[in-house]
Amino acid sequence: MRTTYAGLVSEALMGQTVTLMGWAHRRRDHGGVIFIDLRDREGLVQIVCDPDRAETFKTAEGVRNEFCLKVVGKVRPRPQGTENANLTSGKVEVLCHELEVLNPSVTPPFQLDDENLSETTRLTHRVLDLRRPYMQKNLMLRYRVAMEVRKFLDNHGFVDIETPMLTKSTPEGARDYLVPSRVHDGHFFALPQSPQLFKQLLMVAGFDRYYQITKCFRDEDLRADRQPEFTQIDIETSFLTEQEIRDMFEGMIRHVFQTVMNVDLGQYPVMTYGDAMRLYGSDKPDLRVMLEFTELTDVMADVEFKVFSGPATMKGGRVAALRVPAGGEMSRGEIDGYTEFVKIYGAKGLAWIKVNDIAKGRDGLQSPIVKNLHDQALKHVLERTGAQNGDLIFFGADKAKVVNDALGALRVKIGHSEFGRKNGLFEDRWAPLWVVDFPMFEYDEDEQRWNAVHHPFTAPKDGHEDLMDTAPDQCIAKAYDMVLNGWELGGGSVRIHRADVQSKVFSALKIGPEEAQAKFGFLLDALQYGAPPHGGLAFGLDRLVTLMTKAESIRDVIAFPKTQRAQCLLTHAPSLVDEKQLRELHIKLRNNPQVQGAA
Ligand code: AMO
Ligand code: AMP
Repeated sequence: MRTTYAGLVSEALMGQTVTLMGWAHRRRDHGGVIFIDLRDREGLVQIVCDPDRAETFKTAEGVRNEFCLKVVGKVRPRPQGTENANLTSGKVEVLCHELEVLNPSVTPPFQLDDENLSETTRLTHRVLDLRRPYMQKNLMLRYRVAMEVRKFLDNHGFVDIETPMLTKSTPEGARDYLVPSRVHDGHFFALPQSPQLFKQLLMVAGFDRYYQITKCFRDEDLRADRQPEFTQIDIETSFLTEQEIRDMFEGMIRHVFQTVMNVDLGQYPVMTYGDAMRLYGSDKPDLRVMLEFTELTDVMADVEFKVFSGPATMKGGRVAALRVPAGGEMSRGEIDGYTEFVKIYGAKGLAWIKVNDIAKGRDGLQSPIVKNLHDQALKHVLERTGAQNGDLIFFGADKAKVVNDALGALRVKIGHSEFGRKNGLFEDRWAPLWVVDFPMFEYDEDEQRWNAVHHPFTAPKDGHEDLMDTAPDQCIAKAYDMVLNGWELGGGSVRIHRADVQSKVFSALKIGPEEAQAKFGFLLDALQYGAPPHGGLAFGLDRLVTLMTKAESIRDVIAFPKTQRAQCLLTHAPSLVDEKQLRELHIKLRNNPQVQGAA
């Protein structure tokens, strides 16, 4: 039937008769001649219907947007001056000989080329939204990325093995999606937060190299880079060192960028977690932003300014500065705006100094706080930040986490702002890196216990095993994250392959032997049968494609995503179910008045 895609009609087909199938993107009636932009997944071509062919013309008159059409016609050059350089088919048009309406369409709720659609409209009418060239392009690129990943992994001997969706809770730290069992009253499956435990079992089973492009489910608060169900490129290998694993998968992402986008990411820099926090306050620093923190905790202990001396002398406190070159031109209004911004991250304020004339010492500085800082402290501030005339220096003083979060977010915000771009604080490039040497544990103040930073199956650095008992805060893990443009693209670790070390981690996490057995007994058992040294990682496919397409949100690279409120506007899931279904599942709802049987 079809001889080519509409979007692929080009000069190469000049003079030929083509048969096209697609949708009427736009119809223009130029009094006497009707133009139809015919759209398919490859793009648009202009169809010309002239009154010479009465029947075709009559059909064309009835065509409306989104009608599904069959067009037979001859490719000819567009009249001079009407070419469109943005289209593959921009130099040609198709003179229509035969036009058939394969299926009419009711009037769409919006124009497909409307750039200002709300996300609610787009997600409610997702099918029409998906017809838009922007979404077609994103999903096609997603497919090509997945394909290149598969090719790379296949070439490196990886085997795709499926793991269960109905399973037991997996400890990635989010809330589980639960599925009630009909057969077993009161029992629930959990949807996997990742295939973590199964892929480790596959290593014990001897498959050596596993991968899977698979769905994971996490019931967590959603953001622009998060979905409740998302896709991982999940990988595990046996007998490779941390370095070998990182090299191989740096190579995989390089391959994907090279083949899909013709971009060479080059060799990635490697940064320790400690340095990342010290310099950027983040374990996923956006290296495109040319701003760094300056450490000041050690020189603020004895200043009069309590806002600084307090955190400088408190355990776990931090005082740091962020020097913004040329920031002196910022108005009070802008500084106040940033002060409000950092409050989102828990900061109580945002002290600042404008460096007007460094040669004048104290008098050359404009600031609400310099009067409270002694000469020595000021000297350190200016020297360490490398301040120049015209700069603005911001300060954060609080618990380290608050300072890191607040100044870290401020750094990115200023870097990406118009001011940052104008002043060369932002480099428009691809900025990948590895962050390595994560701590094994972090202390949860609320729950008063240590948690695994990655997950509890991550191996400690060689020689750090005993620190798990004596100084958990100093124990470093063989864990690594791949970061791109400030997003965590992937992460993984070398795993524990010995049952005795695994038990030690559980005990550091206050997971007793019984609980460990109940939750992860199947893994502990497997580790006893000569489990090989193994490790791996997982990439967020949705995130990778979001970055590659420069889409505004992760939802723009997923065909049928959930909203920020974890709903599908297309199908209206989640939805109420009827009483019979609930009864079969042995479920009685506590407090939903809409449902019969609610208590
Ligand atoms: P982790 O939890 O770091 O590791 O997840 C790996 C990658 O998955 C992506 N990701 C998400 N993408 C979209 N929405 C989400 N809610 C979401 N959560 C995570 C991120 C992240 O880097 N089992 C380990 C991997 C391993 O150790 O091998 C794991 O799941 O890009
Ligand atoms: P104050 O003496 O409280 O008026 O604060 C003086 C300056 O310090 C103001 O610019 C505040 O925004 C700033 N400030 C207050 N608390 C903090 C903090 N925890 N970290 C950084 N700056 C702060």
